[in-house]
Amino acid sequence: MNSVYLGVNIDHIATLRNVRREKYPDPVHAAGVAEKAGADSITIHLREDRRHILENDLYLLRQTLQTRMNLEIAVSDEMLKIALNAKPESVCFVPEKREELTTEGGLDIKKNFIKIKKATEILTSSGITVSLFIDADREQINAAKECSVSFIELHTGHYANAQTKKEKEDALKKIAIGASYASELNISVNAGHGLTYHNVNQIAALPEIYELNIGHAIIARALFDGLQKAVSDMKTIIRASRESH
Ligand code: PXP
Repeated sequence: MNSVYLGVNIDHIATLRNVRREKYPDPVHAAGVAEKAGADSITIHLREDRRHILENDLYLLRQTLQTRMNLEIAVSDEMLKIALNAKPESVCFVPEKREELTTEGGLDIKKNFIKIKKATEILTSSGITVSLFIDADREQINAAKECSVSFIELHTGHYANAQTKKEKEDALKKIAIGASYASELNISVNAGHGLTYHNVNQIAALPEIYELNIGHAIIARALFDGLQKAVSDMKTIIRASRESH
C-alpha cells in the first residue's frame, strides 16, 4: 500500500495577519506547528497582489522549514525570478486572476503551451520539481506530458463544489480516470482545492494520488481545535481512507 502525503497550505494564517497589518498570527510559527503535527510539506501561494503570503514570509520559511516547500505561483517573469532566488523544493504553476477569491480553475496548458513549457524548463534545470495545476482533462494531461513535468496537481474544486450526488460521482470519476491516465504516462499526481474533513476520503483513497494540498479547511478547523489537532486529524483521515481501499 503506497502512502498518501499531506501538504498543508498556510496562506490563510497570513490572510488573518494581513487583515490587521499585524505580526501575528505568524506563518512561520504555523508551519512549525503543522510540521510537528505530521504535515509532509508546506504549501504557500505567493500571489501577484500579495493578499496573504508576502515575499518576506517566503524567505523566512525557506530558512525554517524542515519538510518541503511547495510554492504556488503564476507563470510570470516576476514569479520565476522569485522562485529561482528562493529555490523551493517544488513549484506548482497555477492560473491567477486578480479579482478571484481563490484559484478558480486549472491552467490551460494547451493555450499557454510555449510560456508554460519554457517556465518549466527554467525551473527544472535549476533543480526545482515542477507541478502543473490542471483539471482532470486528458488533453491537459497530454499537454503536461509534453512540458516534461514530473508532477501534476489535479483540481478537486468541481468535486468539492458538486451540488448533487450524481455531479459528485461524475467529478470523482473524472479525477480517478485522470489520475490513472497521468500515472500511465509516468507523471506523479497530487490533488487539491476545496478538500475538507467531510469530502477528502474518496480523493485520498485513489491509489495514484501522491500528495493532497489542503488549506482552508485545516486553518478553519484550527480556530476551534488548534492547528496541531487540525493537521493530525486530517492526516489520520487521509491515511485511513487510503488503507481502507
Ligand atoms: N492546490 C492549489 C493549486 C491551490 O491553488 C489551492 C488554493 O490556494 C489549494 C490546493 C488549497 O485549496 P484549499 O484552501 O481550498 O484547501
